[in-house]
Amino acid sequence: MGDNLKVAVRVRPFNDREKQRNAKLVIEMHGDTTIIKDPNNMEGEGRKYTFDYSYWSHDGFKERDDGYLEPEDGRYADQARVFEDLGKGVLSNAWQGFNCSLFAYGQTGSGKSYSMVGYGENKGIIPVSCEELFKGIEERKLTDDAEREAEYQVSVSMLEIYNESVKDLLNTKSFKKGGLRVREHPQKGFYVEQLQISPVRNYKDIEGRIAEGNFNRTVAATNMNATSSRAHTIVSINFAQKAKNDAGKSMTKTSVINLVDLAGSERADSTGATGDRLKEGSMINKSLLCLGNCIKAVADKQMGKATNPPFRDSTLTRLLKNALGGNSKTIMIAALSPAGINYDETVSTLRFADRAKSIKTRAVVNESPTDKLIREMKEEIKRLQDQLKLGGGPGGVIVQGIPEDQVEEMRKQMEEELKKNQKEMEDMKLSWQQRLKDQEEGSMKMLMEERSRQEARKTTPHFWNLNEDPMLTGMIVHFVPAGHHALGNAEPADIVLKGLSVEKDHATIDNRNNSSIKIVPKGAVLVNGVTIDKETELRHNDRVMFGSTHLYVFHHPQDAAIQEKEGKPVERVTFDSAQQEIAEKKGFDMNMLGKSPEEILLQEDITRALRMVGEANAMSTALDKKMLYKLELLSPQARGLKDGRTQVLVRAKNLTNGKECLWRDDSFVDRKYVMQEMYQNYAEGEEDWDCPQDKDPFQDQEDAGYIIGTTFVYMNSLAYCIEMEDILPVTSSTSKEECKMKINILPCHANGGPFTDDEFIDDPNELLGRSLCLKIRIEQLLGLNRKFSHVWCRYKMHQSNDWNTSEVIELSSGNPLIDFEKTFPLNPVTKTLLNDLLDAALIIQVWGRQKPGNLDSSLANMTTKQLAGLDEDKLRYSFDKGAAGSRKADTQTKKGTEKKTAAVVNPETEKALRQKEVQIQSLRAEVNRLRAAKDKEASTTRTSVGFQGGESVNSKMALVTAVVNEAKRLKKETILRERLASILQTGRDLPSTEIKQIEEKIGENKPSKACVIM
Ligand SMILES: Nc1ncnc2c1ncn2[C@@H]1O[C@H](COP(=O)(O)OP(=O)(O)OP(=O)(O)O)[C@@H](O)[C@H]1O
Ligand SMILES: [Mg+2]
Repeated sequence: MGDNLKVAVRVRPFNDREKQRNAKLVIEMHGDTTIIKDPNNMEGEGRKYTFDYSYWSHDGFKERDDGYLEPEDGRYADQARVFEDLGKGVLSNAWQGFNCSLFAYGQTGSGKSYSMVGYGENKGIIPVSCEELFKGIEERKLTDDAEREAEYQVSVSMLEIYNESVKDLLNTKSFKKGGLRVREHPQKGFYVEQLQISPVRNYKDIEGRIAEGNFNRTVAATNMNATSSRAHTIVSINFAQKAKNDAGKSMTKTSVINLVDLAGSERADSTGATGDRLKEGSMINKSLLCLGNCIKAVADKQMGKATNPPFRDSTLTRLLKNALGGNSKTIMIAALSPAGINYDETVSTLRFADRAKSIKTRAVVNESPTDKLIREMKEEIKRLQDQLKLGGGPGGVIVQGIPEDQVEEMRKQMEEELKKNQKEMEDMKLSWQQRLKDQEEGSMKMLMEERSRQEARKTTPHFWNLNEDPMLTGMIVHFVPAGHHALGNAEPADIVLKGLSVEKDHATIDNRNNSSIKIVPKGAVLVNGVTIDKETELRHNDRVMFGSTHLYVFHHPQDAAIQEKEGKPVERVTFDSAQQEIAEKKGFDMNMLGKSPEEILLQEDITRALRMVGEANAMSTALDKKMLYKLELLSPQARGLKDGRTQVLVRAKNLTNGKECLWRDDSFVDRKYVMQEMYQNYAEGEEDWDCPQDKDPFQDQEDAGYIIGTTFVYMNSLAYCIEMEDILPVTSSTSKEECKMKINILPCHANGGPFTDDEFIDDPNELLGRSLCLKIRIEQLLGLNRKFSHVWCRYKMHQSNDWNTSEVIELSSGNPLIDFEKTFPLNPVTKTLLNDLLDAALIIQVWGRQKPGNLDSSLANMTTKQLAGLDEDKLRYSFDKGAAGSRKADTQTKKGTEKKTAAVVNPETEKALRQKEVQIQSLRAEVNRLRAAKDKEASTTRTSVGFQGGESVNSKMALVTAVVNEAKRLKKETILRERLASILQTGRDLPSTEIKQIEEKIGENKPSKACVIM
């Protein structure tokens, strides 16, 4: 019935960032059981999974002098142990003639490459298996008896799947549009056409090939602005053993070992609310999604369900078809991050692994008489030839209804296939020694070059690359020996960097006898995070960014010696540290000291988003998309949350009409991948690289509107059952005042009736257990920019998750009436509600949609680059007259309110105001007490003029007036003043008609001298 797919999980150590933010360890392993704990419920049992192997590589190790991580205790699984369990099995299977597949699955940065390829001395399964394979061959050669005439042939290929297209990493000529074709062979299954399979003699050869493949990968990824962690890499070792069997017949035993380092799995199953439509169009996640579907379907099928695994749906699954259920012995390593922050992703990895373990494969020994293989090959060639003769259609039949050009295309493909088969057959006939010899020359040359390159790095100043994927870091080196060097995007520049924002004549580097090395920028160059615009001296370990993606570290051996003498420490530069530096120089606080884990996470989000925003802008410029992107931060409070993380947003502005929108950073990330695909098509010279506007990732198609700003309504007066009415500033996430909001909140009875005199509250605690209603009315917005076409407001009430959203108002003036009233029964008033009223603010968001404006005609012909370079005030748009006209009529209102509310924005004034409110409240209580005393007095001595304590009341009243006056200057407390005065004088509140009249009378709000009481 076949073998089960073997599944191992491995958990890596915390990385530096996780250590800095005191990450929670959520993985436990006991024997072959792996447990993951929910970081929000560490006491809980967690989820349990069992696998063939559970490798604890999180702690319990020490670093040897040579950098190898070895166990300190028996628990830690080092590279040797993993090889022992998994790699050895693979090798023994290969010797027996089985196909083997080993693939690593897990989110970005979880340790897939570490297990598969390894870093430095910590060699992964791929290099160690190759090394061991040759060791085995050497041993066999020594012991084989001469009669068998055994021959061992090893060859290697290396490919990458990025964006559904296949690149032969050992042949840069294959880096063409669309990549190499994946075809299906009736017996062998899917294979990559024209993939170079290089014969290798020993481990060094393989190492050299893999290094070459990684180098090609790095260059292509950087030039194409591709994210390498989204690529799948497959290294295939073809191992053939030819020998005479006991009957003297020549037999060939073959085994293909596929070693697959999959792309980071994150977001593979994310269902972000926005950008989905774009994601559908993107191929970035297609292969991984399809892999998940296939694994599920294979498992279901093997359980007896009628289903057909959709292998054909993606490039990766076609190539892995055998590995997942076919002729292969397969192992999967699921790489786990130990940190709580990655909980969701890790659970999804564990689920994936759990499902995979039930898959069974049916591996068979691939052994045939050598002449049979040749015969089969001949038959295949004949079949193809016959088909071609008959007209080229599949099965040799001319296909009716297929356009001629397609028939021609099929014919061409067949011819290519035929040629390939003929070559393969010749190769088979050709002696292995001959093929090796052909390769040898090239390999030797490369080896020598690599050696001299390594030597030169010790003495010659050079730039070495930084890549998001540590595997690709340090792969590219550009030497700048004494002399003058031009850097640009094409020959004849000495250093050619292709890709985003690199100009033809981008920079020159002058090396004066290795003593002083200066760079003169002509295009965008950042040195240590700062844009340079004049000649700048480069020092050892400086970080240099050319354009928007080429990030390098400058290595200056002579200067390094000087710095060492001066005792200057040389810091280890990583991709992350260099990106953080850029963010810091752009004004973001990147200091981790004393920061909470949330703040450190935010820093990471900012660094990543900043880089992506830079790249998106560079792509918009290159494609002249007339879009400009900026990073923006939105606090949890502004999003209506009590606490939580600050959100990173991207503001996208259409430069031709001034329309703006805000994207969440995850939705922006999705878009960025689609932008990248588009850019890639453009860079590859595809004519129809552009797409219709409704699918354009650069633009906002949905026009869901965006948050213009928020206002904070402090409601403490409501806890005393005092109505509040105010005009408050609505500020954007960049603290810019966008407009003002006129709002009124009335505490009332369940039936909507207002509170009467007798129901005043001296102490808010009196409200506890009683019922109270709040009538919230958002009346109007004032002074809104004419660029908006629609606005609406929304807020969440105390402890509710539901948004209360006003109607969408179409704007005819800058002061739209919102007229949104809602009554909230709070029955009964609880302690938490009371605390909220006293301390928290009601956060009201103002949302809007923009209308397109007209760009100033003098700017109409400018390119994206020119427009993006203009200052905000020079980038002028005109909007239709309607809104502008009515705004004018409303300027009076706007002016009148500006003074009052401007003060509120100032935190000092805000504080003073709140103190005043507290004073007012305590005075009110005092007044009420005195009034009660007065009433009591009056009822006993009705005839007397005046009453005891009258003086006290008067002085209190003066004080109350002064306090209220002061409050009035800062915030609109006029009505309250009048009402208080009325209470003090008559013992009664004013009737509502009178209140309205007073309100109307209040025009200007000048502070009076008498009101200063502090
Ligand atoms: N078992 C381990 N022991 C020590 N360090 C590890 C281990 N696993 C991973 N790491 C470290 O974690 C980092 C990320 O690992 P790696 O590059 O293997 O991730 P990945 O899963 O291949 O990511 P990507 O999807 O981006 O390619 C590396 O710096 C690596 O050295
Ligand atoms: Mg990797």
